[in-house]
Amino acid sequence: MMQRQRLYLATQNQHKIEEIKDLLGDLFDIHTVFELGLAVEIPETGNTLQENSMQKAAYIAEHFQVTCLSDDSGLEVNALGGRPGVYSARYAGEPKDDAANVRKLLVELAGISDRSARFVTVLTFHHQGKYISFEGEIQGQIARSPRGEHGFGYDPVFEPLGYDRTFAEMTLVEKNQLAHRARAMQKFKSFIDETGFFGDK
Ligand code: IMP
Repeated sequence: MMQRQRLYLATQNQHKIEEIKDLLGDLFDIHTVFELGLAVEIPETGNTLQENSMQKAAYIAEHFQVTCLSDDSGLEVNALGGRPGVYSARYAGEPKDDAANVRKLLVELAGISDRSARFVTVLTFHHQGKYISFEGEIQGQIARSPRGEHGFGYDPVFEPLGYDRTFAEMTLVEKNQLAHRARAMQKFKSFIDETGFFGDK
């Protein structure tokens, strides 16, 4: 077997890093951007998850010339016309605050019976100047109140379709068997596998 390819995760979100490390297993030699001495927040100024995902990967690629994988994700709630969507991280304003975002979401959905929503992730892989993105989604609904201690973000109020537990009531391993990030990652892993991307096939 060839030496594993070094891969930098183009995210500063510790929860995403944990999930992605679990999802990638030992396929890559995984590193974080903290090791590159990055002192600022990776910019995300796009209007779509795809734009932000690309922007994050390109920022790390251009500044550090490394093979990297970015993640931009969001929660789209049908009764809110797809909000918070690309603005999920700062839904309740600056600074980013998961608990405040969840409170705002529940207030906006008060009295609304359609609680359907989906989580979406766009991963973007960069290697030697080439970029490719992979999208994953999971349908579900927004609970009436937060439940569970695991995960992050909107996990305490998101019940995936077919489950009566929220993501925050699942372990990382359980969430990673079905969630949006895991589905996008499956596509990325299939791409690496099927194309023999690093020439070890
Ligand atoms: P971004 O991808 O860094 O722009 O942030 C996306 C935001 O969406 C996060 O801050 C969370 O609030 C939310 N989010 C993304 N993925 C998840 C997830 O897997 N569970 C819960 N919330 C998430």
